[in-house]
Amino acid sequence: MTSIFRAAIVGGDEVEVVLHLNGQIIDKSEWKVIGREALYVAVHGLKSQMKGPLSSLSVPEGRSPEQLLLRELVLKIKGLWGDAPSDPELCHCRKISQANVERGIILGAHSIEKVRQRTSANTGCGTCMPEIEELLKKYLQPVS
Ligand code: FES
Repeated sequence: MTSIFRAAIVGGDEVEVVLHLNGQIIDKSEWKVIGREALYVAVHGLKSQMKGPLSSLSVPEGRSPEQLLLRELVLKIKGLWGDAPSDPELCHCRKISQANVERGIILGAHSIEKVRQRTSANTGCGTCMPEIEELLKKYLQPVS
């Protein structure tokens, strides 16, 4: 069986992997990487893990944009990433999409204040705060 997993920054870097699986075992992986050199280097480090049991795949812990993209990719492979949003617009006051908030987080906005500065989300009524906090956790909280 083959499965495709993808992580991308809106309008920026992108990584996609096709896994050839035999049950819970990775037989082979094929990669497509579009982005800066740092992403190629980070992918090279992850490639060596892409053979053998899915359970032994470790989640990247760094906070650079490249590591956060690969973290997303690995969590998707492990089935721990969660569903896509039902409403792509996260902040209705400022008409900011969830994808733009995610882009801000991946590129370094690692607090509510920085998300506000970078995206202008959560600078109106404030009711989108829980969704932004959830995204910050999703991208930055260590996986137990
Ligand atoms: S919905 Fe985001 S500030 Fe109002």
